[in-house]
Amino acid sequence: MSTILLVSLEEETRKEVVNCLQKGGHILFAAPSHKKAIEIVKQREVDLAIVGHRLPKGNGLEFLDILLKQDNSLSIILISGEADLKDAISAIKNGASDFLVTPLKHLEFKKAVARALENKRLVAENIRLKRALENYTKVKLIGTSHLFQKVVDQIRQVAPTRSTVLIAGESGIGKELVAEAIHSLSPRIGKPLVKVNCGALAESLLESELFGHEKGAFTGAFFQRKGRFEMAHLGTLFLDEIGEMSPPMQVKLLRVLETGEFERVGGDKAIKVDVRVIAATNRNLDELVNAGSFRQDLYYRLNVFTIEMPPLRERVEDIPLLAQYFLQHFAKENSKDIRGFTLEVEKVLTSYQWPGNIRELKNVMERAVILAKGPYIQLTELPPKLRLTQTPPDLILMPIGSSIEEIEREAIRKTLLYTKGDKVSAARILGIGLATFYRKLKHTE
Ligand SMILES: Nc1ncnc2c1ncn2[C@@H]1O[C@H](COP(=O)(O)OP(=O)(O)OP(=O)(O)O)[C@@H](O)[C@H]1O
Ligand SMILES: [Mg+2]
Repeated sequence: MSTILLVSLEEETRKEVVNCLQKGGHILFAAPSHKKAIEIVKQREVDLAIVGHRLPKGNGLEFLDILLKQDNSLSIILISGEADLKDAISAIKNGASDFLVTPLKHLEFKKAVARALENKRLVAENIRLKRALENYTKVKLIGTSHLFQKVVDQIRQVAPTRSTVLIAGESGIGKELVAEAIHSLSPRIGKPLVKVNCGALAESLLESELFGHEKGAFTGAFFQRKGRFEMAHLGTLFLDEIGEMSPPMQVKLLRVLETGEFERVGGDKAIKVDVRVIAATNRNLDELVNAGSFRQDLYYRLNVFTIEMPPLRERVEDIPLLAQYFLQHFAKENSKDIRGFTLEVEKVLTSYQWPGNIRELKNVMERAVILAKGPYIQLTELPPKLRLTQTPPDLILMPIGSSIEEIEREAIRKTLLYTKGDKVSAARILGIGLATFYRKLKHTE
């Protein structure tokens, strides 16, 4: 079934065209003006435009250009009242797939439509493949640590199958990127990868987002709308923050996972889709199941293949590599010549805990690149929070010439400052008993 747009056709020609096409099961739209036609092409996917070519000469050709700029895979047939060879040639040169003259010969017209639609299919398929390839080269997973290589192995292993995958790990660790990699390495590459954040929507909104709704399903549902499951048909659906999904929605999701079927909100027709589901969570689903907020049956269904992503602090050897990767990325983006970072910076980066994981590291490197004055990132170009982990320990400093008594007094004073007056801790730090500590304290007063 194709969508065909009829633009500025003479009344008689339009009737003939409709007559010819209506049995083909196509969706037909008529646009009385060029302006209206452009609006329609902007709003929906049109496969073929059949355009009336009126005098004055030339105006149809400029219009072709505008249409093709909106959608370069669109097929166009021009229909003219005059058999002007020059016009016909320039129409084809401008991207039309045919130029026909009225009165239309039905067979010739039908053949032209079939050819144009086939052409559209070919162009669209090529665009799809090109995008698929871009997608494939876009996903770059950086990391050489043993723990990360295990993740990469798991991705390679599960990608070609149609198994449901659960990706678990702290915020900012790369769960979405892993989902993209799985999709890109699967036979579903080039088909849609549709993402839904289950934590971001209220329950009723999430339901119509996932399953779509029929016209009139609820107040404000003026049109029928396809849900994400339908959009992801033949492709992959990424359900982010699955742990936030409400129990009633969990029941509905489980049913789709088991049968591949669902109904739109307000509808009763079962819709069948072929969708691979990848879910992600930064919560511990085991705990949620124990607490009763996550259904055990759904957990089992999702848990067929789980990829646990270790936090960045547990794979310290990936930090310099990732830092260098982001550094080059942002240097290029900001047209700056930056070659690396100092050893001090590397030490700070590898000793920090990275609660925000790779996303935090990426932000830190972006900031550093913006602040950088020379070819190497300096300590001062890191956020103060990171540098704090490197402040020197508090010192007890005494000039040579001080007596033991003075040294003791200073040691006690500084240690008490450090423990904020806590005498038990101070005694422990100094390695003496509490009674001794009190005795010495008395001396210092
Ligand atoms: N191995 C990696 N190599 C390169 N970039 C990475 C890697 N892992 C993550 N990133 C980058 O780090 C950022 C955070 O990753 P992502 O959004 O996938 O994390 P997340 O686990 O989904 O986080 P959240 O739980 O907060 O949604 C992204 O910009 C991503 O491109
Ligand atoms: Mg995410």
